[in-house]
Amino acid sequence: MAQNEVTKDLFGRMLRDLRISVTDRCNFRCPYCMPAEIFGERYNFLNREELLSFEEIARLVRIFVTLGTTKIRITGGEPLVRADLEQLIGLLSGIEGIEDLTLTTNGYLLKEKARSLKEAGLERITVSLDSLDDDIFGRMNGRGFGVKRVLDSIDEAIHVGLTPVKVNTVVQKGINDGSVIDLLKYFKERQVIVRFIEFMDVGNINGWELGEVVSSKELVEKINMEMPIEPIDKNYSGEVADRYRYLDGIGEIGFISSVTEPFCSDCTRARLSTDGKLFTCLFANEGKDLRDHLRSFADDSELKEIIRNTWGARNDRYSEIRSSLTRPVPGKVEMYQIGG
Ligand code: GTP
Ligand code: 5AD
Ligand code: SF4
Ligand code: SF4
Repeated sequence: MAQNEVTKDLFGRMLRDLRISVTDRCNFRCPYCMPAEIFGERYNFLNREELLSFEEIARLVRIFVTLGTTKIRITGGEPLVRADLEQLIGLLSGIEGIEDLTLTTNGYLLKEKARSLKEAGLERITVSLDSLDDDIFGRMNGRGFGVKRVLDSIDEAIHVGLTPVKVNTVVQKGINDGSVIDLLKYFKERQVIVRFIEFMDVGNINGWELGEVVSSKELVEKINMEMPIEPIDKNYSGEVADRYRYLDGIGEIGFISSVTEPFCSDCTRARLSTDGKLFTCLFANEGKDLRDHLRSFADDSELKEIIRNTWGARNDRYSEIRSSLTRPVPGKVEMYQIGG
């Protein structure tokens, strides 16, 4: 096999990760992502022909791998609402050069699909879950759904070996910050790695305010008083979570502090939206349309050149400049379009 390139942006950051959104639809209506009052039953989501097909996605992934990408994360919307997702996993798991293939889900449909995803070649999984309290969780998923179904899914994911299972918890002040200890106690026993995410100003519809952010520093102090923890090294350079372990030696947790401690300087993440646009930042206004080129019979070398040039021109560092912004930036891509 030919040697893969190392593709760098204007700050020398590699194109190591690709996060692929496979649907803009979701069975939840988390107010910080898809508020129910905006995303009602009649909301105009993308049509089938606007989505990249599995073959189109796999073709792009093969090209990304030749540009140095080794890590793939499938996202949404909620990726498990896309029919036959196992087929895509099967296509991607067969691509030489991918070292890490994973998926982020809200867990609602995972129990039924965990085994087939594993058999198709998915290695591990991350489940989003904001609280173990049914009332709080019901409000945060915007649908009143209870926690049990997600917990059963997590058990099944462990059972079929989609491990290590990670849980992502977005923390919002006054909403779920009071229930983090319960969540940690439950998952510590099960060797599930919980990562707390600072609430972010992604997109333009979630009404983000700095006052609703609970800083990781505050959270570490609070947790440390009840369940003593200490920092440990990152698994790899550019890992978004700061890792901690419990002093009793059992289990680890993570903190993703995009607001209070931005990590743009080693951000190696590209994002592909459901309709085939390449975004070089979670907070970008625009993405480079790859779907048009895919469908106008561009050959692989042309597509590769477009991706290389798009990444080569990248100078994004939104989280680092956030605090110097005097007003919200309009027109940012929404979380459900590129999946976090
Ligand atoms: P591992 O591969 O398991 O280490 O996870 P990951 O680094 O891919 O993290 P994951 O995809 O679980 O990201 C967790 C959350 O962190 C995302 O849902 C986002 O909310 C946030 N996040 C991830 N990447 C970025 C990023 O590049 N910028 C910002 N601002 N937030 C990010
Ligand atoms: N801030 C932080 N995290 C968010 N997520 C969605 N919207 C936000 C936001 N505004 C998280 C979800 C999920 C992942 C895809 O991104 O909870 O874990
Ligand atoms: Fe759906 Fe995830 Fe957005 Fe919640 S955060 S509405 S689960 S896509
Ligand atoms: Fe990367 Fe943009 Fe997030 Fe910074 S804000 S870490 S550049 S995605």
